[in-house]
Amino acid sequence: MSRPHPLELLEHRLARRREQGLGRRLVCVGQATGPRVRVDGRDCLLMASNDYLGLAGHPRLVEAALEATLTCGTGAGASRLVSGTLETHLALERQIADFKESEAALFFSTGYMANLGVIGALAGPGDLIVSDALNHASLIDACRLSRATVRVYPHGDVPAAARLLQEAPAEGLALIVSDGVFSMDGDLAPLPGLLALAREAGALLVIDDAHATGVWGARGRGSLEHFAIKPTPEVAMVGTFSKALGGLGGFVAGSRTLVDCLVNQARSFLYTTAPPPAQAAVAAAALSLVDEEPWRRDKLSQLGQRLRAQLSGLGLTLLSQEGAIVPLLVGGAEKSLAMGRALLAGGVLAPAIRPPTVPPGTSRIRLTVTAAHEMADMDQAAQAIAAAAREVGL
Ligand SMILES: Cc1ncc(COP(=O)(O)O)c(C=O)c1O
Repeated sequence: MSRPHPLELLEHRLARRREQGLGRRLVCVGQATGPRVRVDGRDCLLMASNDYLGLAGHPRLVEAALEATLTCGTGAGASRLVSGTLETHLALERQIADFKESEAALFFSTGYMANLGVIGALAGPGDLIVSDALNHASLIDACRLSRATVRVYPHGDVPAAARLLQEAPAEGLALIVSDGVFSMDGDLAPLPGLLALAREAGALLVIDDAHATGVWGARGRGSLEHFAIKPTPEVAMVGTFSKALGGLGGFVAGSRTLVDCLVNQARSFLYTTAPPPAQAAVAAAALSLVDEEPWRRDKLSQLGQRLRAQLSGLGLTLLSQEGAIVPLLVGGAEKSLAMGRALLAGGVLAPAIRPPTVPPGTSRIRLTVTAAHEMADMDQAAQAIAAAAREVGL
C-alpha cells in the first residue's frame, strides 16, 4: 500500500481541525496596533491586545528604538556568550534587577524563550516539576523539553501541589511552576501558598509574570508585589516586554546563582543571536515609564471595572474579577467562533480562544482592556457584546 502524499495528509489533518471548529487564520489589523485598528478595510475597536499600558506607540519608546539603531546599528552580530553582549544589554539587565528588586537579571529574545531557558537550565532528568494545569503553553513546552518528571496539579490547588511534591527525589531539584496571572483566565496564582510550600519542601518557585509585569502591584512590579511578597532567592521571576511594556523580549530576575546557571545552561539564551540594540533600548524606556506614568495603571483599573460592571449586568459569565483580562465564557468552540464573528460584524475585534489554548468546553472571548482605551470604548464594547450574545444565543 502506498503512503498518501504528505501534503494530502496535511490537508486532511487541517480539514479535521476546521470541522471541529478549531481552524485558525491570521487577522491583519493594519499598520500598527492601538485601541482602534483596521480589519478588512473597516475601523474596529480592538479588545484583544496585550498592550495593557498602551505603550506600544509611545513616543519615548519610538525615540529609544531610533536612537539605539542610529548609534549602535541593527544587529548584535553574535550570541550573547560569543561577542553579542552590548552595553545596552548589561544596562537593561541592571535596570530589570532594580525594578524587580532582585540580585540579578537576564534578558532573553522573547518571553517564550525565557521560559524555555529557565526551566531547562534548572531541571532535567532526575528532577521534579510540579506545574499548574492552566499554565501557559511556553511553560508546558519548557517542562516537556526539560526531560524532568512533570506532575500537573489542578488549577490553583496548593494542597494538591503539596501532595505531588512529596514525590520529589531526595537527590534531585524540585520546581513549582505557575503563571502569576493566568493568560487566558486573568486570575492570580495563590502565590502566598505556593511560596510557603516551596520553602517547606525545599523547592524553587518559577513565576511567569508575563501578564502582571507593569500592571499588577501598587508600583507595577507584578503579582508578588500585589500579595506584598518581597522578592526572595527561592523565586525565579519571569517576565516579558511584549505585553504591558509595549515591545519585545523576555527576562528572568532572581538570585545571582540563578542567573549564573542561566548564562551557563539556558539553551534558548546561548544558542540564539543576542537581541538587537533597539529591542533592549525600548525595553529600558518602557520600564522607566512604568514608574513615571502610574496613571496608566489607575486608568486601566477604572476601565476594567466599567467593562465588568456592564457585562455582569447582561448576565454573562466572566472568568476573572479584576485586572486587564476579562474572559467571557462561551463554552463550545463553534459558538465562540460565531460570537467572535458577530462581534467583528459589530465593529469589535476580540477573537475566540479555543482548545488547545484552553480546555475543551471552555472556549471563550478573551476581552482585554488597555490604558489607551476610553470609557466610551467600554460602553461601545458592551453594546456590541450584548448584540452578539443575543445573536448566538449566549
Ligand atoms: C503567560 C505567558 N508567558 C509567556 C508568554 C510568551 O511571551 P512572549 O510573547 O514575550 O514570547 C506569553 C504570551 O505570549 C504568556 O501569555
